[in-house]
Amino acid sequence: MWHPEPAIRYDIPATRWPTRDEAARSLFFSPIQIGPLTLNQRTWVPAMVPWRATDDGFVTPDNLGWYRRFAEGRPGVLVVEATGVRDVPSGPLLRIGHDRFVPGLRELAETVRRASDGETKLFIQIIDFLSVRRRPDPLKFFARFLKLEPRHRHALVAATSDEGWPERDEASVREFLAAASNELIEGVLDERELEALRRGYRERVTDVELAHVRELPEVLPGIFADAAGRAREAGFDGVELHYAHAYTMASFLSALNHRTDGYGGTREGRARLPLEVFQAVRERVGADYVVGARFLGDEVIAGGNRLEDAIFFGTEFARAGFDFLSISKGGKFEDAKQPKVGQAVYPYTGQSGYECMPTVLSDERGPFGRNVPLVREIKRAVNEAGYQTPIVAAGGIATFEQAEAILQRGEADIIGAARQSLADPDWFRKAQLGRGEEVRRCTYTNYCEGLDQTHKQVTCKLWDRVQLDEPDVPLSDDGRRRLLPPGWRELSQPKA
Ligand SMILES: Cc1cc2nc3c(=O)[nH]c(=O)nc-3n(C[C@H](O)[C@H](O)[C@H](O)COP(=O)(O)O)c2cc1C
Ligand code: SF4
Repeated sequence: MWHPEPAIRYDIPATRWPTRDEAARSLFFSPIQIGPLTLNQRTWVPAMVPWRATDDGFVTPDNLGWYRRFAEGRPGVLVVEATGVRDVPSGPLLRIGHDRFVPGLRELAETVRRASDGETKLFIQIIDFLSVRRRPDPLKFFARFLKLEPRHRHALVAATSDEGWPERDEASVREFLAAASNELIEGVLDERELEALRRGYRERVTDVELAHVRELPEVLPGIFADAAGRAREAGFDGVELHYAHAYTMASFLSALNHRTDGYGGTREGRARLPLEVFQAVRERVGADYVVGARFLGDEVIAGGNRLEDAIFFGTEFARAGFDFLSISKGGKFEDAKQPKVGQAVYPYTGQSGYECMPTVLSDERGPFGRNVPLVREIKRAVNEAGYQTPIVAAGGIATFEQAEAILQRGEADIIGAARQSLADPDWFRKAQLGRGEEVRRCTYTNYCEGLDQTHKQVTCKLWDRVQLDEPDVPLSDDGRRRLLPPGWRELSQPKA
């Protein structure tokens, strides 16, 4: 896992938990309006992919267990993992690209409602992504995948001072390249071909020579609108449009999007499709339904968006009528680690991935509340433009004290905590009931993220090996880990 060099190792912050009365007077546990909804508290569990759906994208009992367990902590909002808007295979990730997915999703929504006594509002994050292939075996790449063109032969002439290449049959060119040195290959393949060889082929929104990429602006508004319509039908309280990290919509927003068809280049051009998708979604679900977006305060990649871009997008999204804005950071393909042969590049393995989910191996700024300065500036700009759109902060927010201070300073309106909620889904309840000392605290070392990267069922190292013999506890596929944290019994007389 990437970390800053030299790294400073941080302890998780010492903290004093509130008494029950202090919690009752806090902003953290006070209501807030999101569009047509009132949240009971400003606590939020951001989307986390648990790798528990069926291979064809349906909700499983393990999905239900996962969301039920988060709902028992009664956060103000629980956001369901990134869920694919298209009807295409995506492994064990949830999908919402067809009506056949609605019954399972409806059961999920009902499960959360029951488990939280209706206190938790349930949103679903909806996502589109482009194709990413596994890193190929070089022999196969040269034998089959590389599309041989005359320019390759010309480059070979220059690289080998052998004039015979244009006439040789394809098999001998391929064979030669397969055995050639790195230096020679670098002189013959273009940048994208080298990427396909070394990291696996990856589509970009700028690949407008591909009809399906060129036509994204025509098809995506309808696809997202259909997905949002299904979310409403299934009983979700709202949708979060995934405009963050490495995926299609974030790539439209990116400063690396140089499309010249009006959907790239300038900030206005880059925001155009995300705004058109929003309009289509809004028309489909109506004004009385929550539609928010998650996007990046900083892409943290060379040539990518910085805070100034995020401020522009945040203000435009607020003007368009989004009901909330949730700010994340980084998580891009561009700086991801080279995958092993046979594996696909994963967007959380480089510096931008670190910034998305910072660990205790950090720099002088430390991992805790690391994104808050970005959120504060976006919120300031949105508010100064005359909009009160609630803004959600996340990233290393680990204690009540920290969350409350961010809210008191007006740096964000709502506090998201992903990994702390995975470590202890009851942490909100414990803090609210004056029993914060019982919180199982996240150590921010990203064992969970390591599982995510290898597409294994996500669990937390603090609880996945305890009480494995508990009756009815669901276990991971290899039988070695429990899939859900042990339960927590609230005492009838919580401390004052
Ligand atoms: C296992 C795991 C899965 C995640 N999946 C998603 C996802 O589906 N969508 C998303 O926007 N962010 C995802 N994230 C990022 C989190 O929502 C959050 O932004 C990040 O972990 C930083 O917040 P934290 O410090 O409170 O954990 C994931 C994080 C983890 C640890
Ligand atoms: S495995 Fe658990 S303790 Fe470690 S970072 Fe993830 S949630 Fe936190």
